[in-house]
Amino acid sequence: MIAEVDKDTCIGCGACPEFCPEVFKMDDDGLATAYTNPVPSDVEDTAKEAEEGCPVDAITVN
Ligand code: F3S
Repeated sequence: MIAEVDKDTCIGCGACPEFCPEVFKMDDDGLATAYTNPVPSDVEDTAKEAEEGCPVDAITVN
């Protein structure tokens, strides 16, 4: 699985690192980034939760 954050869509709400800090973190620009790819199998579920929890649908995990 590969996680991606569309920075043009992210509003920097900060939810995704709360759901899955192993994969998502906030960058210096105040927007999220997916810094662990491929997504480790033991955190695939929480990465998907982050995808579903993003209020602006900026995350793809496939
Ligand atoms: Fe941005 Fe969505 Fe994460 S708005 S900070 S990608 S939950």
